[in-house]
Amino acid sequence: MAQTEEIRGIGHRVRRVEDDRFIRGKGTYVDDVKLPGMLHMAILRSPYAHAIIRGIDTSRAEAHPGVVAVVTGELLAQHNLAWMPTLSYDTQAVLATDKVRFQGQEVAAVIAEDPYTAKDALELIEVDYEPLEPIVTPQRALEPDAPVIRTDKEGKTDNHIYDWETGDKEATDRAFAEADRIVALDTHYPRCHPAPLETCGCVADVNPATGQATIWMTSQAPHAIRTVFALVAGLPEEKIRIISPDIGGGFGNKVPVYPGYVVATAASLLLGRPVKWIEDRTENLISTGFARDFHMHGELALKADGTMTGLRVSLLADEGAFHADAQPSKFKVGLFGIVSGSYDLPAVHVKATGAYTNKAPGGVAYRCSFRVTEASFLIERLVQNAAYELGMDPAELRRKNFIPPDRFPYRSATGFVYDSGDYEGALNLALEKIGYAELRREQEEARAQGKLYGIGLASFTEVVGAGPHKQYDILGLAMNDGAELRVHPTGKAILKLSVQTQGQGHETTFAQIVAEELGIQPEDIKVMHGDTDNTPYGLGTYASRSTPVSGAATAMVARRVREKAARIAAHLLEVAEEDVEFHRGVFSVKGAPDRSKTIQEVALAAYTNFPDGMEPGLEAVYYYDPPNLTFPFGTYAVAVEVDAETGEWEVRRVVAVDDCGVRINPMIVEGQIHGGLTEGFGIAAMELITFDEDGNCIGANFADYLLPTAWETPRFELYETVTPSPHHPIGAKGVGESATVGSPAAYVNAVIDALRPLGVTNIDMPLTPARVWEAIQAAKAGGS
Ligand code: CDP
Repeated sequence: MAQTEEIRGIGHRVRRVEDDRFIRGKGTYVDDVKLPGMLHMAILRSPYAHAIIRGIDTSRAEAHPGVVAVVTGELLAQHNLAWMPTLSYDTQAVLATDKVRFQGQEVAAVIAEDPYTAKDALELIEVDYEPLEPIVTPQRALEPDAPVIRTDKEGKTDNHIYDWETGDKEATDRAFAEADRIVALDTHYPRCHPAPLETCGCVADVNPATGQATIWMTSQAPHAIRTVFALVAGLPEEKIRIISPDIGGGFGNKVPVYPGYVVATAASLLLGRPVKWIEDRTENLISTGFARDFHMHGELALKADGTMTGLRVSLLADEGAFHADAQPSKFKVGLFGIVSGSYDLPAVHVKATGAYTNKAPGGVAYRCSFRVTEASFLIERLVQNAAYELGMDPAELRRKNFIPPDRFPYRSATGFVYDSGDYEGALNLALEKIGYAELRREQEEARAQGKLYGIGLASFTEVVGAGPHKQYDILGLAMNDGAELRVHPTGKAILKLSVQTQGQGHETTFAQIVAEELGIQPEDIKVMHGDTDNTPYGLGTYASRSTPVSGAATAMVARRVREKAARIAAHLLEVAEEDVEFHRGVFSVKGAPDRSKTIQEVALAAYTNFPDGMEPGLEAVYYYDPPNLTFPFGTYAVAVEVDAETGEWEVRRVVAVDDCGVRINPMIVEGQIHGGLTEGFGIAAMELITFDEDGNCIGANFADYLLPTAWETPRFELYETVTPSPHHPIGAKGVGESATVGSPAAYVNAVIDALRPLGVTNIDMPLTPARVWEAIQAAKAGGS
């Protein structure tokens, strides 16, 4: 029987199945979980950035009606739980015992019959603090007389965390010695916050009779968290079940283990009742995984004709009070080593230093692959300034130095092997679509009339899909993912994933991959994830690794199922297996296409009429260890107009050309790019977590931490090129983060381009009107 209906596999704009429940308000988030006898937890946080704790008096809070228990670090210490490991092999206080090290740090927790009582009782806890000098910059942190933040570490006499180097220093020094021109840039990629719509939280339920711990948790990586919990608490892993239900955005913020998860679990264990903890917005903004905060110095060596010959970078990372960066353990500053971007740069040297400060820990992969955002920003800003110094057009300078398509796979000077790319193709399309030549003419005219009009480009290269087990791990766990596929007798299927959707539409796109491979319609494939008892092991969703790793596992498991299905089909068609061919859900006899069986008929036979000696059933599992990372890329072109009187700038055009290889669902890809371009705009224009000299966090609510809304967000014009990844089973690369990585430099380059006639060469993000105005005034006064 032939399939008549078109299979809505790869390349189809299938509507997101998730949206049906989301837009009806029928999603199940952690806060929707309500268990019988459930208690509620609230956390007392430090008002000081740096202070000794002289004592904590919990007696009044304990006596408050409705309060069941008050937990302090001292109590946790009795169970060896006062400190926990971070994702960067550091330790972090669960509840402070000796000192508080950032404003908002967890000091004590109240467990009560209802959430309001728990919050009210926090005010009854008396903490005797002795304030110390707070350190709010990494520069100050590294001064010899700076107070030591991590006095908990035996023998620690400074705030230095690490030095890390990559590339070839000698070759780079030589390139600089021989350069015709050296272009330098100092810039700070500011601390910002992923700010997911849903804050973090959990419901911990440890059954006193069975010892089974079930924890509903806002986690992007439930399997990895379960392993960490087992190791930290010494619980048997099979007794821990982490369930990540619907997640209201993660963006890297929901990768780390937070003290709240640990305290709620410990409280449930001690009290024998379920405990719920849900953060409020301010708690989320001031205490959970921040992103970025890199002070960067970059230098580019060039020949007079514009050929780039060397890149030298030194950076200082502000890591906060505990080093908790989420990144592979071999890479102290994540994948920042990809700082040469899309360019054929023969000599690169990067030196990085990390310092403790009195700020919340973090350094999470906020919609980026482990610090590649900072790297991409630096090189794209440097290239623009280099073009000005050489008197070249920024597009021309890029074109001259791109890695050409015939050089792939390309080994970069820092050892990354780029899988595929056509950078000039993406640039050319962006220039054509924005009408670059015409815009430059208009810019001349605008300038003649005294208007500040600017055009900015960014030709970014991403690096996603961590990763091959020899190099990529989180706390030693190889960054691989599994997929499990079962086809039921009626030909419907269930796909179980180790990755965890937080809004990316995995339930739709991963079903499309199976549809493509097996010819079963996506609506007949249920996708399950987020339950460690019922899904295969894997490292979870962040750093745009789902499609490159788990998407590959899905294609491979479907192929494994197809192989068995072909054997059953041969039996049904009474021919040898070699005589069976498969096309879009139909197995037929080679040369006799009328003799055929659909995948649904074969599925039924797998349970009813299979060959003698064959194991019945139609299912498989596949764990994928990628042979390499994938390297999505693109060019973003932005046009802006700046008001010299106020410093306000308005985006006139945004053209985005993205290449993420084969697109599984173009509609979802476009949604991802829209989100990323908006986040990139927010960071370039308005988002900033900063601190005053006392270490108070400025940016603790959405009135101070400005996220772009539909009102400010520009209109985006999207285009694509398609350069498949040669090693990925379906040729797909990731896309979830590309636009957040690539676009900030394009927005900033556009504003700097507008201010070029005034001599302005740099303004640090976010480009608030005040900062732009000040830069204009400084330039007018003779500086830049
Ligand atoms: O890891 P995360 O899901 O955040 O990022 P991703 O792998 O880049 O995927 C984001 C969404 O875009 C997923 O639903 C993917 O399946 C989809 N996607 C796609 O349809 N085609 C691609 N080539 C890449 C991603």
